[in-house]
Amino acid sequence: AITRHYEFNITMQNVTRLCHTKSIVTVNGKFPGPRIVTREGDRLLIKVTNHVPNNITIHWHGVRQLRNGWADGPAYITQCPIQTGQTYVYNYTIIGQRGTLWWHAHISWLRSTLYGPLIILPKKNVTYPFLKPFKEVPIIFGEWFNADPEDIISQALQTGGGPNVSDAYTINGLPGLLYNCSAKDTFKLKVKPGKTYLLRMINAALNDELFFSVANHTLTVVEADALYVKPFETETVLITPGQTTNVLLKTKSEYPGATFLMSARPYVTGQGTFDNSTVAGILEYELPMLHSTKSMNKLPLFKPILPPLNDTSFATNFSTRLRSLANSQFPANVPRNVDRHYFFTVGLGTNPCDKNKTCQGPNGTKFAASINNVSFVQPTTALLQSHFFGQSKGVYSPYFPVNPLNWFNYTGNPPNNTMVNNGTKVLVLPFNTSVELIMQDTSILGAESHPLHLHGFNFFVVGQGFGNFDPNKDPAKFNLIDPVERNTIGVPSGGWVAIRFLADNPGVWFMHCHLDVHTSWGLKMAWLVLDGKLPNQKLVPPPSDLPQC
Ligand code: C2O
Repeated sequence: AITRHYEFNITMQNVTRLCHTKSIVTVNGKFPGPRIVTREGDRLLIKVTNHVPNNITIHWHGVRQLRNGWADGPAYITQCPIQTGQTYVYNYTIIGQRGTLWWHAHISWLRSTLYGPLIILPKKNVTYPFLKPFKEVPIIFGEWFNADPEDIISQALQTGGGPNVSDAYTINGLPGLLYNCSAKDTFKLKVKPGKTYLLRMINAALNDELFFSVANHTLTVVEADALYVKPFETETVLITPGQTTNVLLKTKSEYPGATFLMSARPYVTGQGTFDNSTVAGILEYELPMLHSTKSMNKLPLFKPILPPLNDTSFATNFSTRLRSLANSQFPANVPRNVDRHYFFTVGLGTNPCDKNKTCQGPNGTKFAASINNVSFVQPTTALLQSHFFGQSKGVYSPYFPVNPLNWFNYTGNPPNNTMVNNGTKVLVLPFNTSVELIMQDTSILGAESHPLHLHGFNFFVVGQGFGNFDPNKDPAKFNLIDPVERNTIGVPSGGWVAIRFLADNPGVWFMHCHLDVHTSWGLKMAWLVLDGKLPNQKLVPPPSDLPQC
C-alpha cells in the first residue's frame, strides 16, 4: 500500500454547453473534475484549497472513513466549510473496499459542477471476480443548468416553490447530439470488436433517477456501490443519484465502423415538472485495418429503446435482481440478530409561509421534506466537532424520534395536515448496535422515489414492497442470504425498503435523500454512533487543519 497525493484547487472556469457560456466552480479548472484512481489499502492525502467566493466541502461518497469522520465532508455535519483562501487536507485510508465510488461537493448545490470518479482497484495481484476487461471506462451522469444552480435553489427556498429543472443531462459532462448545438459535445467511446469493456457508471445528477441503455448491446451488471453482485444481464440499468453501477459490455465481432447510441433519461413516477430530455453518447466500432471509410457502406446510427418514463415494474424488477455475491471470498455478513428496529417515514411536507409573504408551495405554503416528520435544520457548527468536544448544547438534540411523530397510514391521498416539525436531531446508537431500519415513503406530496444515502456504512437491502409495510407479515420474506449491499437505496414511491447494518463506525453520520432538492427541503438526519470500549473502537481526534466555522 502506498500514499497518494492529490491537489484540488477550487477555481472558477468558463464552460460552454447548449450554446451557453457561464462561469462554474471547478476542481483544477476541469469539468467534470479529476479522476482519482487508487487501490484498496492505499492512503489518500487530498489537499483542497478554496480560491472561489463560495464555502466548499468535498465528500468521498461511499468511502467508509472508519473512525475518521473528519474526512467525510458533509458541511456542518462532519466539518465546517473550507472558506475562501483556506486549505484542508482530506486524509484517509481505503480499508476493505474496492470498486467504483465518486467524490462531490457536499454543500448547497455545488455538486452540480464539482464531482468526479473515485476508482478503487483491488490490491495488487488480486483479480476481479469476473473476466478481466480489455478496458475500463468511467461513465458519469450529470445535470447541466444554464442558470446558476446556487441561484435556482436559493430562489426556490425563498419562494417555497419547486426549483427550476435542469436544461440537459450529461455523460462525462457532455449533453450529446440530441440537444441543441451539442453535436460536438457528445461523449464518444471508440471500441474494438470482440472485447469486453467495464463501464464504471456513476449517477451524479442532482434530482433524477436514470435509465441507461446502449443500442443493440446487452449489459452484464457486476457491481453496485463498490460491492460485487451476482452477475446478471439486462438491456437497461436503473441508477439513482448517488449510486454507482459497474457493467460489462461485450462488443460484437461484426460491426466495423458502426455507431450505436448510448443514452439515459429519467425514471419518474410523479407528475409535475421535470426534465424529460435524453442524453446520448456514441459507441463507435473501429474499422478493420484494411478498410478505408470511403469503401464502407455507411451504417445507420442504432438507437436504444429505453423503458417508459414511469416504468415502475421495470424499476422494481431491476432492483430486486441485484444480489450480493455472498460466496466464501465475499461473504454477505447480514446482521442476524437485530438490537434495534426503527421505522422512518420519508417524504415531502410543508412549512408555513413567512408573515406578510406569499409562498409558491402547496396551498400557499413552503415545500419541506422530513424523516419521521422532522425536517432537519442545518446547524451553524459541525455536529461531529460538537460531539467530540462534548459541546452538543444548543447545537443538536440527541432525541431523534424513533417513530413518526404523526401516525402514518398509506392510502395514496394526502392527509389534512402536511406540516413538518423543524429541528436538528440525531439518533444515538451504542457501538456495534445491529440496526434494522424500515423506510416508508409517504407520497404525501408529489410521488417520487427517494434515493436514501447513508454515510459511513454499507447496508444490506433485506426487503422492499409497495403500500404499507406490514410488521407482522413482511419480515418473514426478508432475504438474509444474499441481499444486495450498498450505500444508496431508492425508497419506492408509495412503498418501503428494509435495510440492516452494524453500527461499527463511531462518529456522526449523515443520512439523506440524494435528490438535492429534497435534501435542501430537509429530508436528512444524522446517526451518532458512540465509541466502543477498546482503543480501536473510538473516533480518532480531529486533524489540526480542520476548518472552523
Ligand atoms: Cu453523495 Cu451525502 O452524499
